[in-house]
Amino acid sequence: MQEDDILKLAQSLLYDRAMVSWNGEWVGAIAAITKPSVSAAGGDLNYSEIFIRDNVPVMVYLLLQKKYSAVKNFLTTCLSLQSQTPQTRGIFPTSFVEHDGVLVADYGQRAIGRVISVDATLWWMVLANAYVKHSGDRDWAAQPNVQSGIQKFLDLILQPSFREAPTLYVPDGAFMIDRPLDVWGAPLEIQALLYGALRGAAALLRFAGSHSQPHTPNDCLSYARVLRRHLLKHYWVTSKTVQVLRRRPTEQYGTGIQNEFNIQTETIPHWLQEWLGDRGGYLIGNIRTGRPDFRFFSLGNCLGAIFDVISPNQQQSLFRLVMQNQQHLVAQMPLRICHPPLEDTDWRKKTGYDRKNLPWCYHNGGHWACLTWFLCIAMQRQNHSLPEDLQYTVKSFLKNCYELMLRQLPDQQWAEYHDGPTAYWIGQQARTYQTWTIVGLLLMHHFVNAPEGESRVLDLGL
Ligand code: GLC
Repeated sequence: MQEDDILKLAQSLLYDRAMVSWNGEWVGAIAAITKPSVSAAGGDLNYSEIFIRDNVPVMVYLLLQKKYSAVKNFLTTCLSLQSQTPQTRGIFPTSFVEHDGVLVADYGQRAIGRVISVDATLWWMVLANAYVKHSGDRDWAAQPNVQSGIQKFLDLILQPSFREAPTLYVPDGAFMIDRPLDVWGAPLEIQALLYGALRGAAALLRFAGSHSQPHTPNDCLSYARVLRRHLLKHYWVTSKTVQVLRRRPTEQYGTGIQNEFNIQTETIPHWLQEWLGDRGGYLIGNIRTGRPDFRFFSLGNCLGAIFDVISPNQQQSLFRLVMQNQQHLVAQMPLRICHPPLEDTDWRKKTGYDRKNLPWCYHNGGHWACLTWFLCIAMQRQNHSLPEDLQYTVKSFLKNCYELMLRQLPDQQWAEYHDGPTAYWIGQQARTYQTWTIVGLLLMHHFVNAPEGESRVLDLGL
């Protein structure tokens, strides 16, 4: 098939097969178009539901197509499903589905392992802000239901707790990685999203008018500042900072010490040396007392760049690191979700023998085409300020990523993910006709060919 035909096919799969209408309007897209085959699926049938996270690329694509009312309807529908029950008040559902004329939401009470998706709530704030910025629809943002939804979210975040750190503490699997993978505590993706959500909420609260609000834009912004400082101090690593980390004393007590989390040198893995090289840098996966997680999580790092958690210079180091580790992160299909995978005893103990998350599979080192556009916009936002050599490499790198997707995805029936060290195999349990894979290609096509500035699509710009 020619490129044009592939793109037309992708569009018609999205509009004619994936989008769901309810009361005569689109409310979002289902996660995968085909019915999951029972043998591959292990019986979990929720891919025919509308997931908030899977709809992020869909809504971004609709914004770029100026289909504003569809995005507004999605946001308003999700808002109407924000939990009102005392224990979960304020959270948005992972997914929802129409059942007998009613929308039924899943807040984790139906999910495998009963895990709640914390990212859905955070994504809503980011998307709502993007919608208002693109459409200019301030009246929507000013509506009492929208403002009160934001306040309920802030009640969850800006409340006293048994922790001092500004990070949001979550159970294992509370985001895109929604199965056990030792990502409990303060995983990067949640923290980067929290930063974006707080800044998005601050922008939206400004449209509230003059009546007094329990949480103000300034509350959000000062929390976001503390969070950013924390992430830069404890998550950002380069080969230089690792050398400092390796020589820190342990067992220190009190304020003004160097090793706040009492981290032993032995927890710093040797693969970091080659991975970082002398010019690379990235945000590590998690910080926990004595147990940092040095794995590289692609989405958390892309969001760290897109939301400017890391500075332009740090973003440059991140992109150098990605370029330098292409054989791991891209190989035959962009983008590896997390590197390196947990293996052997780590896999057994930390995932609880999770068959879907075998080493090099699924979340545990698998490759997800749907992630590539995040890297694309992260890189393009900075393109003008990158040194010329890097500008050129980044441009051809992104084109290559797009072509890898274009050449393979239609034949592979838009597989959900790819397995193995080179990502040559279609994921062992991958769904076909996965919506965010389809839209991921459309977004890559859009951005690779787009005029400068388009990549600021999730911009928080306050
Ligand atoms: C899987 C993924 C999750 C995604 C869902 C629907 O559970 O782990 O991130 O949202 O499928 O596609």
